[in-house]
Amino acid sequence: MRYLFLILVSIIGLSHSAKLLAAAGVASAHPLATEAGIEILQKGGNAFDAAVAITAAIAVVEPSGSGLGGGGFWLMHQASSGESLMLDGRETAPAAAHRDMYLDNAGEIIPKLSIDGPLAAGIPGEPAALVWIAENRGVLPLAESLAPAIRYAEEGFEIGEHYQRLMNFRHETVLASPAAAAIFLDQDNVPEPGWVLRQPDLANVLRAISDQGFDGFYRGPIAKALVEGIQNAGGIWTLEDLANYRVKVRQPVKANYHGMEITSASLPSSGGLVMAITLNQLSKLDLSSTNSLTQTHLLVEAMRRAYRDRAAYMGDSDFVEVPTEKLLSDSYAKSLKETISQSKATPSSELDPIAVDDEKGTDTTHFSVIDSDGNRVAATLSINYPFGSGFVAPGTGVLLNDEMDDFSSKPGTPNVYGLVGNEANAIAPGKRMLSSMSPTFLETNDRIAILGTPGGSRIISMILQGALAFHSGADAKEVVSKGRIHHQYLPDRIQYEPDAVSLKEIVQLYAKGHSLTPRGRTWGNMQAVVLDKKSGELDAASDPRGEGAARVIK
Ligand code: GLY
Repeated sequence: MRYLFLILVSIIGLSHSAKLLAAAGVASAHPLATEAGIEILQKGGNAFDAAVAITAAIAVVEPSGSGLGGGGFWLMHQASSGESLMLDGRETAPAAAHRDMYLDNAGEIIPKLSIDGPLAAGIPGEPAALVWIAENRGVLPLAESLAPAIRYAEEGFEIGEHYQRLMNFRHETVLASPAAAAIFLDQDNVPEPGWVLRQPDLANVLRAISDQGFDGFYRGPIAKALVEGIQNAGGIWTLEDLANYRVKVRQPVKANYHGMEITSASLPSSGGLVMAITLNQLSKLDLSSTNSLTQTHLLVEAMRRAYRDRAAYMGDSDFVEVPTEKLLSDSYAKSLKETISQSKATPSSELDPIAVDDEKGTDTTHFSVIDSDGNRVAATLSINYPFGSGFVAPGTGVLLNDEMDDFSSKPGTPNVYGLVGNEANAIAPGKRMLSSMSPTFLETNDRIAILGTPGGSRIISMILQGALAFHSGADAKEVVSKGRIHHQYLPDRIQYEPDAVSLKEIVQLYAKGHSLTPRGRTWGNMQAVVLDKKSGELDAASDPRGEGAARVIK
């Protein structure tokens, strides 16, 4: 099981000049992060400043999910230029990383090496992204937008059940890092809800970033403490790795589904492409004239094919050739659609088989913003597993990610069919690991939605189902609450939340040749803000599965 954490914050903002909207809305995975966004909007910040504030605040108050030691994708829309871009703050493999670094002499994966401890950590992108957003899109000084996070880190806050549950899962790993244990445990024990978490070292790091920008984290004393602590514990980061880190500005993936425009994450996230490949097939299958059983069947068949393409082709497009144009083409959608039967499941083994790594992380963090001028940000952030690698370099307070596990640790291994997959996502120095994080904008004639969720490989199928619900007229609450199903090509089975499929449908899906596996618990933590374009009214919702909060303010 892999864990990722995803926060989604959606803001429809206040403004300083001529306001297009009369209100602002925020939805995030933690009430204090939502408050940080509101605070900055009320101080005259735009949606981008609020995004900086929420990113930093959630790093402090939901350390299990994201943080300065991790990375993410910030999907942004600037109203004045009409431009949409994706800021890629994904982690990179250190220069000393190599393709087989998690394999033993026999070529077998060494358990946990890519998950626990400093060798699992990629070079973080989140601090650089905070600086880029403030410098290139914000109207407030970085220091002002980081102030709520610094306050939370210094004064502390009471942890909840979510923290306790996930720390139970990662207790042993965190105990292995004395600096992490001293911060995140209560005298080495898993803290009870109500315990106050204070992070003075992290406050100092945030202050260094607010004073010195990029250099505050990637050069100087903090960089030195990170590298020393990591190398002393067997990691491979160098000062050059940190100094060389750069965010990248990328074009998002766009798709159209029966008049709804979808704008989502591009490589190195597979999210936008997998969603577009699925929706392009569904556009050619008339879902509206079918019953709910057939809709589920067709959705599964389209996802099966799109997730297969993820495994076959996708990786960091700065390092590997990905046939994006072909994958998004109408003719490709048509060719896939023609292989889909309305009445029978296609076994995944019948689709040119590709080896697939185990399911990657199951949680992440996302936030989304739109302000009164029409600016929007949707960001998905991660340190991968709960509490990332569990490692903190002494004196830094920065919990490191274990995002290296999102690479294919053992690429090129023939699967049972003798075929080789995941070459595109093999480890290489400086390369970004393939992600599923899918910050997304949806736009119809009448409404705009900003949404995202944690959930590893299920992120994409969750956003897809959220998009289909939105297209059918669902409001923010319905979009985030809806029961979820998932199919990702391999394993060849439909996973479903307890209430997502009726018993009758389960029987009928079996009859069509599908395998089904119930999940004991729900998954995801979707956050959404929906704008009614005509009235300017806002509707924000935080997933009832999580502990988040949504607020709309006038
Ligand atoms: N770390 C999970 C993802 O990026 O998809």
